[in-house]
Amino acid sequence: MEQKRKYFTVNYGCQMNEYDTEVLSGHLENLGYVPAGRIEEAEVLVINTCAVRQKAEEKVFSYLGKLHSLKQQNPNMLMVLWGCMVQQESVARKVRQRYSFIDLICGPHALGRFPELLEKARCSTRPVIELSELGDRENLPVKRKQGIHAWVPISHGCDNYCSYCIVPYVRGAEKSRRPENIMQEIRELVREGYREVTLLGQNVNSYGKDLEKDMNFARLLELADGVEGLLRIRFMTSHPRDFSEEVIRVIRRGEKICEHFHLPLQAGSNNVLQRMNRGYTREDYLQLIAKIRELIPGASITTDIIAGFPGEAEADFAQTMDMVRRIRFDAAFTFVYSPRKGTRAACMEDQLAPEVKKERIVALNNLQNRISLEKNEKLVGSTREVLVEGRSKTDPEMYTGRTRTNKIVHFCSNEELTGKLVKITITKAGPWTLTGQLLGIEEKLHR
Ligand code: SAH
Ligand code: SF4
Ligand code: F3S
Repeated sequence: MEQKRKYFTVNYGCQMNEYDTEVLSGHLENLGYVPAGRIEEAEVLVINTCAVRQKAEEKVFSYLGKLHSLKQQNPNMLMVLWGCMVQQESVARKVRQRYSFIDLICGPHALGRFPELLEKARCSTRPVIELSELGDRENLPVKRKQGIHAWVPISHGCDNYCSYCIVPYVRGAEKSRRPENIMQEIRELVREGYREVTLLGQNVNSYGKDLEKDMNFARLLELADGVEGLLRIRFMTSHPRDFSEEVIRVIRRGEKICEHFHLPLQAGSNNVLQRMNRGYTREDYLQLIAKIRELIPGASITTDIIAGFPGEAEADFAQTMDMVRRIRFDAAFTFVYSPRKGTRAACMEDQLAPEVKKERIVALNNLQNRISLEKNEKLVGSTREVLVEGRSKTDPEMYTGRTRTNKIVHFCSNEELTGKLVKITITKAGPWTLTGQLLGIEEKLHR
């Protein structure tokens, strides 16, 4: 029997990057490749990269260091370095100089042109670099992971230029996808057996600003909520500045739209928020949280916070801690500020010492972990609707699912329930996950 050609992918980025990797996989499968079980078997290796923090780049460089010997053992393996990190010209150049065994270096815009670029790289003895921003992102093949959950991009790029952030530079200007294309994709996914979609964008609330007048995020959510056979809709990321009351009301009315709000706060002091160019104050943010909790009392709220932004004084950081105490987020992704070349914040004076940043993030994490645990402990004894995702990755004896509020629950179950909504009584809580007992299948959707 003829041996099929194989490919292997490695992902270092966010959900949008994961989706892009699914498209690259889709292209490769159209070309006749199949996934390799082990990296050594691959004829094509794709590494999708991220630029958002220094650490993300360091991880990729350390990986590249290890790849040299793999290339020596498999000289015919085509190595592709894709994504946000290499969209930065200086990084692409560095890769070409120091890691000349990489065959193709491509920014995220070339997604539609991957097959031709791969062919070009195959025929070339020198690395091929493609950083142009041209490229359509419709009608692309997508090879999604098997399961019940699918990522669905609704917009690409970002126009916000938060002063610390590299994303607008590497991902380009914001562009909304056509609603009919999004809806067609969701319906198709349901036909294929997917039950939950996450609508993706750097700022989903500004969806539709570049489309016809009556198209916006609230309208899109409503349309998606009407898709028969779909069980749940999630979305990320929301920008607090653009979050309208209309969207909160649509979520409240919606049957499938989950009551989980990921609203990056970034900082709690107005002074820092302003220098971050976030476009809201702490008071605006508190008001938004109050509105969400008034209209949807059971909603969960999670956030992103940066500690150690340039010029962040003790008093500014105290305001961040104060916001965390007041709001009591269900969870927070916390980051030490990382200067990104070319962004405004990287040139600001008063960059803080690493020890100060470290100290602050430790304090922040201790506080938030305690709050997350307390909030989860409150759920013990209650019964929740859980969508069963399949066997747990950490304990194959157990199954995993999520509540509507995006809490991960582990429980004993069986294969037939995967993809179904079940009732689970929560029996134990940790800061990040819950344990529960299966009560039965959910008859109909409810909160
Ligand atoms: N578009 C999304 C996600 C951006 S990246 C949003 O606006 O929320 C995800 C998170 O990384 C950001 O929310 C921010 O908290 C963090 N981040 C971005 N740039 C960073 C930097 N230079 N240093 C540290 N954290 C950063
Ligand atoms: Fe970056 Fe701000 Fe855009 Fe988010 S909204 S991607 S943090 S510039
Ligand atoms: Fe995502 Fe990192 Fe790019 S967060 S958009 S992969 S810079």
